[in-house]
Amino acid sequence: MTELISIKEAPKHVNEEVRLHVWLTDKRSSGKIMFLQLRDGTAFFQGVLRKNDVSEEVFAAAKELRQEASFYLTGTIHEDQRSHFGYEVQISDLQVVSNNDGYPIGNKEHGVDFLLDNRHLWLRSKKPFAIMQIRNTMFKATVDFFEKEGFVKFDAPIFMHSAPEGTTQLFHVDYFKHDAYLSQSGQLYGEAGAMAYGKIFTFGPTFRAEESKGRRHMTEFWMMEPEMAWMHQDESLDIQERYLAYMTKQVLEHNQYELSILGRDPDKLRPTTEGNFTRLSYDDAVKMLQDAGRDFKWGDDFGAPDEEVISKSFDRPVFIVNYPTSIKQFYMKKNPDNPKEYLCADVLAPEGYGEIMGGSEREGDYEVLKQQIEDAGLNLADYQWYLDLRKFGGVPHSGFGMGFERTIAWICKLDHIREAIPFPRLINRMQP
Ligand code: 4AD
Ligand code: MG
Repeated sequence: MTELISIKEAPKHVNEEVRLHVWLTDKRSSGKIMFLQLRDGTAFFQGVLRKNDVSEEVFAAAKELRQEASFYLTGTIHEDQRSHFGYEVQISDLQVVSNNDGYPIGNKEHGVDFLLDNRHLWLRSKKPFAIMQIRNTMFKATVDFFEKEGFVKFDAPIFMHSAPEGTTQLFHVDYFKHDAYLSQSGQLYGEAGAMAYGKIFTFGPTFRAEESKGRRHMTEFWMMEPEMAWMHQDESLDIQERYLAYMTKQVLEHNQYELSILGRDPDKLRPTTEGNFTRLSYDDAVKMLQDAGRDFKWGDDFGAPDEEVISKSFDRPVFIVNYPTSIKQFYMKKNPDNPKEYLCADVLAPEGYGEIMGGSEREGDYEVLKQQIEDAGLNLADYQWYLDLRKFGGVPHSGFGMGFERTIAWICKLDHIREAIPFPRLINRMQP
């Protein structure tokens, strides 16, 4: 029986007869020869169908094929130096499964709104294919990296009975006539996990009701949040650096084809794989902005244009460490050498992408944390369970959160974060 392979496996089957399950993306014919552009979800390549190689019925059926027709085919794999993929199949037989007119996405320019309205189909096109393959590599690299480092995957809830980090960005849910919210971060639950199992990471959807139409904002995005007991901020920065280096390396190793589809220059990603990220203090970052002529005062938070200026000065991600307490969250630990700042850091991705991760050492002292919760104007009763983590066996601990789609947008050099997730949820889009 002829072996069933995927297009991706074609290089291992040169000059062999194989079977494939495929969809048609485009078709060109000139008399007795047809060039069928094929995809199967693993790669794209060309099928060549010659009148003399197939039965009359098969040739007639092939003539009728429309874009996105699905079929089984039998053929022989050949090298094809001229193509992107490097191989093609010479077809000897095919069996149509589904064939319809009117596929809305053609091989021409469409507006992005049209493409997003047809996202359920657009996902099949080359660019989304490449991005989703890279997303998959990054997901797997994350799981592999943290497993190797001795972390346990830990799942945080999505329904929250109160606002974990303040109330402005929360989606309200009617929970059996009670108020509930969708989670904006799994962190506080991750801290419970760290006190139970040492080193954990959460990885799941989070929700922000920010009224932003910016290219870095979605209302639903995936966040990966490690939390480490017995760990200070410096060691957390080491892990963040190793993690980004490892993940980038995995993409370079496994996704050359996809990067080339995207026209993404791999050399731009290579410095990241070396680690050695600069740790720039907030104070020095402020100076950098002022020197660049930006109107920025100490104590301000960085906006996207500020981050762009800073991150364009580096060829790999950069840490900005120790922000003023006034612009960060209540759970962070104050710097013992300078109580005006927290022991915290954001990671800005290069090439102007800006913040992709943020984290800190957590305040581990019961009384200090209680005070910080009160100072933040939060309701103590909501945080009693969180304070218990300090009351019973509290230890120094640190953690961080990575915005998965922002990181993908940088790795793939996307103009907008919406292309980094299969079905984006934006302030003005929930369909399909
Ligand atoms: O900086 P944020 O708000 O940090 C936290 O939520 C912490 N609890 C993380 C932690 O220490 N465990 O969010 C973390 C990351 C940001 O750096 C950014 O990459 C991403 O989440 N992010 C968004 N991504 C897409 N759309 C949005 N609206 C985002 N808001 C934050
Ligand atoms: Mg942040």
